[in-house]
Amino acid sequence: MNAMVSKSYNAREAEQQHLLQVYGQYDFEPVAAEGVHITCRDGRTLLDFYGGHAVASLGYAHPDVLETLNKQAEQLFFQSNAVALEVRATAARKLAAFAPEGLQRIFFVNSGAEANENAFRIALKKTGRNKILAVEHSFHGRTAAAGAVTWGAHDKWYGFPRTPFDVDFIPRDDAQAAHAMVDSDTAAVVIELVQGVAGAYDLAPDFVDAIVSACKQHGALLIVDEVQTGVGRTGYAFAADLYDLQPDILTTAKALGAGFPVGALMLTGDAAGCLGNGDLGTTFGGGPLASALISTVLDVIERDNLLENVQKISSRLQAECLTGPVNKISGKGLLLGLHCEGGAKAARDALLDKDILVGTSGDPDVIRLLPPLILNDEHVDELVAALAAT
Ligand SMILES: Cc1ncc(COP(=O)(O)O)c(C=O)c1O
Repeated sequence: MNAMVSKSYNAREAEQQHLLQVYGQYDFEPVAAEGVHITCRDGRTLLDFYGGHAVASLGYAHPDVLETLNKQAEQLFFQSNAVALEVRATAARKLAAFAPEGLQRIFFVNSGAEANENAFRIALKKTGRNKILAVEHSFHGRTAAAGAVTWGAHDKWYGFPRTPFDVDFIPRDDAQAAHAMVDSDTAAVVIELVQGVAGAYDLAPDFVDAIVSACKQHGALLIVDEVQTGVGRTGYAFAADLYDLQPDILTTAKALGAGFPVGALMLTGDAAGCLGNGDLGTTFGGGPLASALISTVLDVIERDNLLENVQKISSRLQAECLTGPVNKISGKGLLLGLHCEGGAKAARDALLDKDILVGTSGDPDVIRLLPPLILNDEHVDELVAALAAT
């Protein structure tokens, strides 16, 4: 570790001086990271199966990411959407090629919630209706519109006196309810195909089919929220490919920038047809640094066969992690939920004692694995051994 890092500094205490205390935090402080390992101030090295909430798609200090950042920063650090840029056009072309068939219109933003916020705005405008349905246990973000369709937000943290549109939640995996609830007032149904925050819960294919057919029948848009599942996380470019779906709008963020804040909406030409000059906007979205990084992330995923890597590593994790406290595994690719006897917190703490970082979830029994897509066999061996000894 860098000799300049003082072991006695306490970042949590220092943060408390000015930062709002709204996060439950781990009690280690990362000071450096490389590959899939985090170095902490106290000198410990952690194997990272959490990836900073699924963001560190290429791990840390990836040479292509660093080179892109440096080159782009030197060449053109920032310009807004008031001007067209080659670097932005290239990122959009690459993302459209990576996206599920038919989603060829792109809008760049800065975060997952902002992507969803704009997706809902488009669905309301396109249909002229005012109701959005989501699925119970879903998470779509913290803004007024994204929080409105997040399960449980109203009781816990929503904080606005009313939602900006009518909202209802379809019971999870209840195909009959989906058919009954989608109607001619429904502008859109938004779904996470694998519900991340809920504990890597993969929706039943017949439930997803019911939503797709109900949307078609009533002219409602299908919005697939791939903020957590997108950009290779499930072993496919997008989970929509895994479920063989063609959404009207797909939103993504997190992994797309490998740590740089980015978000994107991908739309069909038909959904995009209702939009004109001035209907959407953002200052930072699609800036040069963000755009350059999006291109690099997509290039590296392709060049290094990371989708195949995710599929291979996921098969091993699913076959071998049913050990120690783990009695069931849910999820897809490298978004996996390990269901633990004795609860998620105890399992997470036991793994952290063995220098392995995993996340918890909305399900008190489920720890979440969201590691970088570059994970390899040795890392799987380490986790399996640690679980077995837990
Ligand atoms: C499925 C999903 N949608 C939306 C969001 C919100 O994204 P952001 O925190 O970038 O606004 C998240 C964040 O965890 C998410 O998992």
